[in-house]
Amino acid sequence: MGKEHYSEESNKAFETAKLTSYWLYLAGIPEAVEYGKLIDLENAIDPGVIPHSKDMCFLNPIIHEIRYGSINHYIRESGCKNILDIACGYSPRGLQFAKNGYHYVGADLPVVAKELAPIAKQTELAGYEYAGVDATNYESLKEAADKLAGPICIVVEGLGMYLSSQDAAAVRRNIARIMHEHEGSVYITTDPGNGYLFFDVITANYPPERMREAFGMLFEMYNWASNGGITMETDKRPLETDAALFKEAGLIAKMCPLLPAGTALSTLKGLASDAAEKIRNAISHPYTFVAVLSDDYKAEDETEQAFSMESRVENDTLIMSVSGRLDTLSSPGLLECFEQNKDRITSVEIDAEGLTYLAASGSRVLHLIRKQLATPDALIIKNLDGDIENQLADDEIIKHL
Ligand SMILES: C[S@@+](CC[C@H](N)C(=O)[O-])C[C@H]1O[C@@H](n2cnc3c(N)ncnc32)[C@H](O)[C@@H]1O
Repeated sequence: MGKEHYSEESNKAFETAKLTSYWLYLAGIPEAVEYGKLIDLENAIDPGVIPHSKDMCFLNPIIHEIRYGSINHYIRESGCKNILDIACGYSPRGLQFAKNGYHYVGADLPVVAKELAPIAKQTELAGYEYAGVDATNYESLKEAADKLAGPICIVVEGLGMYLSSQDAAAVRRNIARIMHEHEGSVYITTDPGNGYLFFDVITANYPPERMREAFGMLFEMYNWASNGGITMETDKRPLETDAALFKEAGLIAKMCPLLPAGTALSTLKGLASDAAEKIRNAISHPYTFVAVLSDDYKAEDETEQAFSMESRVENDTLIMSVSGRLDTLSSPGLLECFEQNKDRITSVEIDAEGLTYLAASGSRVLHLIRKQLATPDALIIKNLDGDIENQLADDEIIKHL
């Protein structure tokens, strides 16, 4: 199996990204149609992998046209000509802004960036590039950000719902740190208000009895690609909770209307007049976060320890020692090492003394390894730091002590 396979297994969220750009394509957003052709979107959407029902194909284009348009609106408002689109997926944003003289860096998992880099090159647009990152990994994000000189407009659309609370906190801290290094930067995201937007679009179009079902359907995808458990209640947590989390990371967020009143939307054309009217009102709801760095931000200067791994097979046991961060960038290597040895071992012993951070993707890989062993006890993880031990116990990789 190729290296891509191990990367794909460690973080499933990228699989949903083509579908996200498909909604903009269905909405008829001109650059999404152009970009869809470049990435062969019609053929890339496999209903066998991710189900997309008629309802999803109706609701999602409306939601995504608003969400995508909102971020683009605040990019233009910021006056900043550099864009770092974290978890960019297959969004047509890069094509659109690079055509208009912006320098755009799309930062996504290496498996996505590798696929998109030649497409950007093919457009021959200056200032249109991609970088492979794990947004929880500061060094990788910094490398992507440093392709841009001066203040950056950092944007995040459709990532938050895939992240564990620990990974989400790491992403916020990393963004604040980059904003500190690129003075005058601004951070724009629709993620905290995403559930509210879903709710507004569903209730504008469907009677109350169809609400829960439609909400569940829309979140099926997020739950499939993350650790699951997103419900209408969890995804509509008070926006002030997110604002407080931003503050903890050193960011001051302003909650701004999704779009200015009167913004034209292509997806409204096909709607009943009362539904269209409700959505025209909904776009003024303050669901978009526009954040700046707080004046009292305390700079972090810690260098993150890079991942390293040693392994050997002894008496039917694969013995590994790992140190540094186990995240989407490093966990595929761990999985590959296991897969290459699995036919000649019956157990795995991991010395995790040097492990400094365990992202959800790392946890996922440990889970995949454990699942393939004859018994759960055949995976032994030793010398764990207390917090990481609790995290593994919560993820049911090891037993709670
Ligand atoms: C639903 S897609 C959204 C894509 C795009 N922003 C859009 O709105 O069309 C989620 C994206 O998050 C990316 N992703 C998931 N975890 C990530 C991480 N830790 N670091 C960077 N990107 C990540 C996935 O690869 C995927 O492209």
